[in-house]
Amino acid sequence: MATTPVRRLVQAPFGALPDARAVELYTLRNRAGMEARLMTYGATIVSLTVPDRQGGFDNVVLGHADLDGYLQASPYLGAVVGRYGNRIAKGRFTLDGATVQLTVNDGENHLHGGARGFDKVLWTANSTESNDGASVTLAYASPDGEEGYPGSLEARVTYALRDRNELRVDYHATTDRATPVNLTQHSYFNLAEAGRRDILDHELAIMADAFTPVDAGLIPTGEMTSVEGTPFDFRTPTAIGARIDGDHEQLLRGSGYDHNFVLTRSGEGLRLAARVFEPTTGRMLEILTTEPGIQFYSGNFLDGTITGATGVLGHRSGFCLETQHYPDSPNQPSFPNAILRPGEEYRSTTIFAFGVAPR
Ligand code: GLA
Repeated sequence: MATTPVRRLVQAPFGALPDARAVELYTLRNRAGMEARLMTYGATIVSLTVPDRQGGFDNVVLGHADLDGYLQASPYLGAVVGRYGNRIAKGRFTLDGATVQLTVNDGENHLHGGARGFDKVLWTANSTESNDGASVTLAYASPDGEEGYPGSLEARVTYALRDRNELRVDYHATTDRATPVNLTQHSYFNLAEAGRRDILDHELAIMADAFTPVDAGLIPTGEMTSVEGTPFDFRTPTAIGARIDGDHEQLLRGSGYDHNFVLTRSGEGLRLAARVFEPTTGRMLEILTTEPGIQFYSGNFLDGTITGATGVLGHRSGFCLETQHYPDSPNQPSFPNAILRPGEEYRSTTIFAFGVAPR
């Protein structure tokens, strides 16, 4: 029987930046009908369409309908964040004896690469198509001193869509001076219908025995605390909403979940970090990563003031699971090293694997 060839890759213009540079949109499709739309601004996932248990397709990430939406108001919707994803206390740290001062853009701290992080720059794209899928590699050369970071950094992110409904994300970077690097994907997922209701009924499992508690500015205290007996214990699948409004100091500080989990790893390589199940649609998302941590953010700052492609982005209408090195690592000697040096290669891989489960 002849199989109909799939048009795996389509490139189209997606508008222009205020300085007239053109933004491109890449649509990747697989044989199962899954579709990922990616744009060169921010190396952003614009939409991700996956089947439910009846075979019905929906977009499962929050995003905007057009480029203008992203330029006007986007709390990192679907973007790659960097050069250092997450927070660095006061934007300051000591590296090889010298003090480095980064842009401060979140109260007194540095967040997600600064005022103009990797989510707000234009990446260049190269796409390929093969028998087992399509992929797009986005590249960005971050100049020495950008947002205060030392060294010119050559960063690359490859998105590959596989026929088994996996979106694989490979990060790569090199530098000519020592610099912290922590690249991650900031998609907000809602496996029911992106943005039309909250995510509190999603059942979440995180393969973590510990998390890194934070101070009032969401900076890690340096401790790694056992999740045992706390609302941070997701070792068995639990509805996101089951304990979110509890009277736990860490939940109050985060206005919900906004914490880094210390992944329990047995060895190197890709490991299952989290699994999310949405009971009404049967959709399941598994996240595998080579990273030591994952930030679980329950969309606490979404407050209905932004309207996205799927409607108003209400409180907790999406969740992020950002695979990463721990926040503030440059100031925390006991955390895994997040400094990249000349001659070294930064490599990190995360897979978003979609499926359905009967219940
Ligand atoms: C991250 C942070 C949150 C918040 C969001 C964006 O997940 O941890 O505190 O800044 O990004 O709103």
